[in-house]
Amino acid sequence: MSIKKVIPKAIFPFLKNIKDYINFINHALYDFNRFIKYSSIFKNDSDSVITWLMQDSHRIEKGLSLKNPKKGFGKDVLVRIFKNLQLAKNFDSNRMAESVDYAIFALGLYFNYHKDSLNLIDPKLVEAYHSLENTKNATSSNSEHVSKNITEYFGDYKFDDLCFDRASVRQFDLSKSISKEEIEALIEPVIKTPSVCNRQHCRVKIITEKNLVLDLLKLQNGNRGFTEDIPALAIVTSDISFFVKPEERNQAFVDGGMFAMSLLYSMQNKGFVACPLNWSANIKNDKALYKFNILENKESVIMFIAFGRPLETISFAKSPRKSLKNFYAMYE
Ligand SMILES: Cc1cc2nc3c(=O)[nH]c(=O)nc-3n(C[C@H](O)[C@H](O)[C@H](O)COP(=O)(O)O)c2cc1C
Repeated sequence: MSIKKVIPKAIFPFLKNIKDYINFINHALYDFNRFIKYSSIFKNDSDSVITWLMQDSHRIEKGLSLKNPKKGFGKDVLVRIFKNLQLAKNFDSNRMAESVDYAIFALGLYFNYHKDSLNLIDPKLVEAYHSLENTKNATSSNSEHVSKNITEYFGDYKFDDLCFDRASVRQFDLSKSISKEEIEALIEPVIKTPSVCNRQHCRVKIITEKNLVLDLLKLQNGNRGFTEDIPALAIVTSDISFFVKPEERNQAFVDGGMFAMSLLYSMQNKGFVACPLNWSANIKNDKALYKFNILENKESVIMFIAFGRPLETISFAKSPRKSLKNFYAMYE
């Protein structure tokens, strides 16, 4: 006898709800486990040292960019920077170089700001600063404490045009290939996208090999009808080893979404057409993606983007927007 005949019909919706709840809990646990395993909450490895150095250096820089930086600010941060500069010596120096350089540069700014008030700083920290090697070389850092006048700061942008012209396009010119130089030109401005504490944890994988593109698209649930027409995929990811607190559990997706949007605008700006593709993937497909060895386990997927060169006539769905009043409220 089938189970359906035994169970009263009225219970079916209830059972379906239970199934949905269990599915929901499974996905939440999957995310939870990934965050516990790959974030740096419980770690002292090279990723966590880099993360702390980046965010603490940023804190120092940020403090100094305020109107009237309080003399002697950021004691805990200084202590942690020196601790992590020590720890950094245990890891591959090439890998650590940029964050170490950034930290030393930020310390340089800090101690320069305090040159007439060193008495406000713990003598041990002053000594630690003076005994740092390569404080001079750290000016090679691309970080600089800057100020510009108002006309220098604002350029003559056409941002509204970029916004209003961009559309999700699902047809591409398959005869045109995409070079490494074009990809680099595309990504270069995108790395200026802000990220929490300047941690710069987003990555993008560009896949142009036809069969690989098709295999990857099998795991994505929104490309039916134009799968074969997609010449290239960008997979935007966030490296969750850059997160150090439970409160940061969603930050990968906030920063990652911003990074992805910059990439879409960069594509528009450089004459590519593109369609973002959701990664609302189930656990099975998410796990399957890591088997391609394109992503490290510690990277979480933000989204895929299908992109390529446009056909002579560019067709797209209108996707009308709701009226402006739906999107804002003012409290005056
Ligand atoms: C994160 C994200 C995921 C999306 N996923 C898909 C998708 O899987 N398949 C698809 O055809 N379009 C996808 N889109 C495109 C949206 O349908 C499209 O952006 C929306 O309709 C607005 O249209 P527009 O981009 O042309 O302005 C996605 C968009 C975003 C932002």
